[in-house]
Amino acid sequence: MSNNLLKGKKGIIFGALDEKSIAWKTALKCHEEGAQLVLTNAPVALRMGEINKLAAACSNAPVIGADVTSMDDLKNLFEKSIEHFGGKIDFVLHSIGMSLNVRKNKHYTEMNYEWNQKTLDISAMSLHKVLRTAWDLDALNESASVVALTYIAAQRVFPDYNEMADAKSLLESVTRMFGYYYGIKKKVRVNTISQSPTRTTAGSGVKGFDGFISYAEKMSPLGNASGEDCANYCVVMFSDLTKMVTMQNLFHDGGFSFTGVTQAVIEQMEK
Ligand code: NAI
Repeated sequence: MSNNLLKGKKGIIFGALDEKSIAWKTALKCHEEGAQLVLTNAPVALRMGEINKLAAACSNAPVIGADVTSMDDLKNLFEKSIEHFGGKIDFVLHSIGMSLNVRKNKHYTEMNYEWNQKTLDISAMSLHKVLRTAWDLDALNESASVVALTYIAAQRVFPDYNEMADAKSLLESVTRMFGYYYGIKKKVRVNTISQSPTRTTAGSGVKGFDGFISYAEKMSPLGNASGEDCANYCVVMFSDLTKMVTMQNLFHDGGFSFTGVTQAVIEQMEK
């Protein structure tokens, strides 16, 4: 059911790899709510070709490749998007994460620092680069909304999350810092949504994910939030209903973040 919450709005969605991706589900919801979209991902991800199915389902939204670490790619993306829309942009979803040390099974205490630089660049400083590009081109409309996806390992230790914990902390800091400046300049809102563990390509890359997702389910009064639930929350954050929300890390995790223990976990421990 559509409430036309994004009617007339124009947005860029980063990070739809396949139909499990949170960005994929968010693009579909935004389209359903009346938004016009441009889809983007790294050129290597586009070669999989999956994203063309999503584009077709979103009224043939253009797909523009951009490595999020490249300022040239980002400039091209924003310029082409403005040209396509015939105007500025109302919302951006940053749904990007990649850890080289996790991918290559390097323990946190034995981190390869060159890989770590790349991880921080792709997963955190890329938000700065996206915002900086929009800022330099004056590409966003007044009260535009930018959302990046994050995880609670930025605040608490989840050992197997490895260097991504540091990347998410940096991402959340960039959200606050750039959110401050962009709020003053143009009332642009910048927030992170801290999502429950979700079965996607990036999510499943974390060691022990299966045990962990069941633990989170048991530790959340509402259970884990699904990718579809996250997409709905993104729509609300892109809508005019949240115009005064900025610089926040918004937990979207069924209550996990504020739960010390649940009866279900106690019973499990007593077995
Ligand atoms: P996903 O694997 O579907 O999405 C990650 C995306 O990042 C992919 O589309 C990939 O192509 C893109 N990407 C990687 N390097 C890039 C680059 N250099 N330039 C442009 N794009 C690049 O996985 P998912 O889970 O949908 O991830 C989306 C976001 O949600 C990430 O920030 C992730 O950390 C976050 N998140 C995921 C959770 C989970 O359990 N799946 C939980 C909490 C947050």
